[in-house]
Amino acid sequence: MGWPSTLHLVFLSWALLASTTHQLQTYERQILLQLRKHLEYPIELDAWQNYYGDLCTLSSTTHMSITCQDNSVTELKIMGDKLAKVSEFNGFALPNQTLSQSFSVDSFVTTLTRLTNLRVVSLVSLGMWGPLPDKIHRLSSLELLDVSSNFLFGTIPAQLSRMVRLHTLTLDGNFFNDTVPDWFDSLTKLTVLSLKNNRLKGQFPSSLTRITSLTDIILSHNALAGKLPDMSALTGLHLLDLRENHFDSQLPSLPKGLTTILLSNNSLSGEIPQELGELQQLQHLDLSNNFLTGTPPSELFSLQNISYLNVASNVLSGSLPQRISCGDALGFVDISNNRFIGSLPSCLDSNSGKRIVKFGWNCLSIDTKNQHSKSFCEKAVTVTQSKRFSGKAIVLLAGVIGGILIIVVLLLVGLLIFRRRQQARGAPPGLRTVPKVVQDNPPSAISSELLANARIISQAAKLGAQGTPVYRLFSMEELEEATGRFDQSTVLGAGSIGKIYKGRLQNGNYVAIRSLALHKKFLIRNLKLRLDLLSKLRHPHLVGLLGHCIDGEVQDDSTVNRVLLVYEFVPNGNFHTHLSETSPEKVLNWSDRLAVLIGIAKAVHFLHTGVIPPSTCNRLKTRNILLDEHRVAKLSDYGMSIVTEDVEKSEARGDGSKSWHMSKLEDDVYNFGFILLESLVGPIGKGKGEAFLLKEMTSFGSQDGRRKIVDPIVLTTSSQESLSIVISLTNKCISPDSSRPSFEDVLWNLQYAAQVQATADVDQKSDAASLS
Ligand SMILES: *[C@@H]1O[C@H](CO)[C@@H](O)[C@H](O)[C@H]1NC(C)=O
Ligand SMILES: *[C@@H]1O[C@H](CO)[C@@H](O)[C@H](O)[C@H]1NC(C)=O
Ligand SMILES: *[C@@H]1O[C@H](CO)[C@@H](O)[C@H](O)[C@H]1NC(C)=O
Ligand SMILES: *[C@@H]1O[C@H](CO)[C@@H](O)[C@H](O)[C@H]1NC(C)=O
Repeated sequence: MGWPSTLHLVFLSWALLASTTHQLQTYERQILLQLRKHLEYPIELDAWQNYYGDLCTLSSTTHMSITCQDNSVTELKIMGDKLAKVSEFNGFALPNQTLSQSFSVDSFVTTLTRLTNLRVVSLVSLGMWGPLPDKIHRLSSLELLDVSSNFLFGTIPAQLSRMVRLHTLTLDGNFFNDTVPDWFDSLTKLTVLSLKNNRLKGQFPSSLTRITSLTDIILSHNALAGKLPDMSALTGLHLLDLRENHFDSQLPSLPKGLTTILLSNNSLSGEIPQELGELQQLQHLDLSNNFLTGTPPSELFSLQNISYLNVASNVLSGSLPQRISCGDALGFVDISNNRFIGSLPSCLDSNSGKRIVKFGWNCLSIDTKNQHSKSFCEKAVTVTQSKRFSGKAIVLLAGVIGGILIIVVLLLVGLLIFRRRQQARGAPPGLRTVPKVVQDNPPSAISSELLANARIISQAAKLGAQGTPVYRLFSMEELEEATGRFDQSTVLGAGSIGKIYKGRLQNGNYVAIRSLALHKKFLIRNLKLRLDLLSKLRHPHLVGLLGHCIDGEVQDDSTVNRVLLVYEFVPNGNFHTHLSETSPEKVLNWSDRLAVLIGIAKAVHFLHTGVIPPSTCNRLKTRNILLDEHRVAKLSDYGMSIVTEDVEKSEARGDGSKSWHMSKLEDDVYNFGFILLESLVGPIGKGKGEAFLLKEMTSFGSQDGRRKIVDPIVLTTSSQESLSIVISLTNKCISPDSSRPSFEDVLWNLQYAAQVQATADVDQKSDAASLS
């Protein structure tokens, strides 16, 4: 054989190889395109159509990734943006975003199983509905299956038990409504089983207790009931999450390796076993809202790594030994709503500032105003049963309490205003209100619970929002006319997410128009849902959103990248510039500043707790606080994350969504801390950066230091005590650790500071009067 024939051979085999490769890819490419069609062309997959190269080489995004091996698809991950399960917002039901009636989950899975080499399948938030077909088991190489946040219902197919390579099975956030199966022990490699947020019934599947490879069992938020089995054989288990079910046994034996145990909101009874105090690796323990009795083992508090310990709302009794030593990592302890007596162990003394400790509504001999009387705790055992309200009774009760609460709040507000007036008129000292912590805050013990109930809040919010004009759609022509075709001279400001124009509508009213560039392309119907959410955020201290206009809107299923939001125009400048005013008629004295801060704190409190999902990351800064002609403060720039980010996705996905929210909520607290700081020392100008201010804050400690850095206007118009309250609040908000206060606490402290100040002002007036 000479050169030419060898070459020929090489060429031939190369061509052969290329052509088989090519064939395979064409076939799988066709399947992928069919899947896209089944899923009704989600925008996340637009790239598939326009990409004529090998789909395996398409670069991954957070919403789509394809991995191949030997020219065959082995991993397919698609995350859509169909809302699932966030079905209620501010009391309004949202439509489910399912695929259309012509979607067939059966055909979809049939097509999917033609990708025979799949090892990883993750199809999240795609609006798939129907029962999950049995034939999914044909994907015999599958190691990970995640179909969370869809609308799958019915039974978890028994044939899944044949997929022996599975190590992760995640069916979260669907509507599976049959009994939970008990064949899991045939999945001998299973490490993660997550079935949370479904409607599964029946008992805890005891087959799970035999799969020693398991690390995570997550069955929370279902309707499982009955007895929890001994789980001590699960030596690899780290996470056990069974929250919000109806389990009603005693606490079972648990394996030693657990780091997180979440059993809250069940009907567990009996004592907390001593062995729980021997789980050396434990970090999170939540046993709240059960019917546990007895005294918890004190070893729990001193575990080396425990950071979160919640036993609230049980029937625990006895007294905790004074000499308990708390673990260094312990940052949060909640023992409230039990029957504890005696005093608190010294390491749980909440004044140390090291950890957050909640202990209200026991019979402890401290802080008696938030405690029951002794006799309450003595009859501990007999009242256990009466705690077992049915769900409906609780809702009803919450409704009634909510109604009463609103009336009480209104009355209190009325009373407060009345008293303020009295004070302003210089009421005689004998009739003056003494600032009383309790008076300002009677419902706080229950309010956070009630605040979590969106329906009640939406009532309160509606009360607050009366008089705001109805939300409407604006046409592009109308807005162009209002702004002289968005003339540069009408630009009020330009932020990171788009310019703001001042406009004048035909009826003569001024408006502020934000042109919002969307970084992510939205389907118009999806965008409309988000705008609908945004339009529901109404509060007297939020700049009112009057309506919107979607630029280039054609059809509901086209995409768009700009939306114009039309707000009421707030004429009197922002807090930042007001803080630097020195002319006597414009200067903001301490009481004025407190009024602004209280208004904004109320608005943010509403954004955090009055709506579901909460609106976080509200871009709090002094420039975003506007004052109207009556110097009423209104927050602008709030809620933008609803339109620009995947808020509901993290909500629906659930994983870590709690901590996600917590940290976002804390961001607002932190930023509000800087607003407080600027109110104290004047606006942060050039050369005064965040770091500079943080350093200056250390001067707050001494009188001399204060005199040096606090704005002279504040020094001369504030009382010592009122100033101290706000300084200490500022320190807490800006503190680097996790003990930042909630907005409820922020609001409460500010209102207290204002009341202290009002009293001091009256004092001063009467002093002056008696001198002259
Ligand atoms: C969403 O779908 C589920 C299950 O089909 C249903 O129970 C729920 O009421 C729906 N929610 C809305 C707002 O349509
Ligand atoms: C589950 O839900 C579907 C659809 O809502 C319903 O038709 C079916 O009867 C339910 N099955 C069970 C076992 O409750
Ligand atoms: C548990 O139940 C309590 C009281 O009913 C409720 O306030 C709380 O929100 C529930 N927890 C969860 C995680 O839903
Ligand atoms: C506590 O946590 C640290 C850091 O994660 C770890 O190294 C240590 O082994 C843990 N201690 C115990 C007793 O598990």
